[in-house]
Amino acid sequence: MEIVIAEAGAVGALVADEVHALLARQPEAVLGLATGSSPLSVYDELVRRVEAGELSFARARGFMLDEYVGLPADDPRSYRAVIDAELVSRADFAPDAVQGPDGTAVDLAAACLAYEQTIAEAGGVDLQILGVGTAGHIAFNEPSSSLASRTRVKTLTMQTRRDNACFFDGDVEAVPRHCITQGLGTILESRHAIVIATGEKKAIAVRELVEGAISARWPCTALQLHPRVTVVVDAAAASRLELADYYREVQEHRDAVE
Ligand code: GLP
Repeated sequence: MEIVIAEAGAVGALVADEVHALLARQPEAVLGLATGSSPLSVYDELVRRVEAGELSFARARGFMLDEYVGLPADDPRSYRAVIDAELVSRADFAPDAVQGPDGTAVDLAAACLAYEQTIAEAGGVDLQILGVGTAGHIAFNEPSSSLASRTRVKTLTMQTRRDNACFFDGDVEAVPRHCITQGLGTILESRHAIVIATGEKKAIAVRELVEGAISARWPCTALQLHPRVTVVVDAAAASRLELADYYREVQEHRDAVE
């Protein structure tokens, strides 16, 4: 794992640099797109670069991580609508280049399987952007998720529903109880995963993700099995890391071995 402890205001540009470098060498790259607040500064910076003519998504493809069950794509609270508003409609993706799980499918299990197949047919995800939930989920893989899980329906924890109630006028009961999420096994197949976490409320999840024992209790710990993970955090999210000084030292001296 590479752990980058950065100024909160620098996180967006740092991660955007990784996306930018990938698209420069591989314009048809497949991106894995997270929703939630964590990647918003990244998407803003990417859009700025598109508008400045520095970057193009015209040949890229994207796959979303997760979706609420029962919310149609035109519901502004659906993750499909959120990713469209935050990134897709503001960048220059080709029509239908970004896809997500269908949370309104009559046969949800079939939709999950079809989604896995679509990702595989695209050649898999080159760069997966991830946030982490306060209870340690990545995508919507809640505690007890199999570390080998694939795209499937999950039941959200009350903690996640409370965390996301702000997008539903503060009404936790309005937050859907079920979701479709890429599995941990699916996410582990991405060729590079970048986790973004900022703020004190993510500090325990970040500690578990980086230094905790691998366990379904903290699904984010599955990333310790991923061959290439970059964890980009601010000082507050890094505040519970036992070896924070070491991670800072690694970053200070990385140029000497590159
Ligand atoms: C949400 C989403 C995840 C997201 C995570 C963190 O519930 N399902 O995709 O990465 O939890 O969210 P946030 O970035 O808003 O803290």
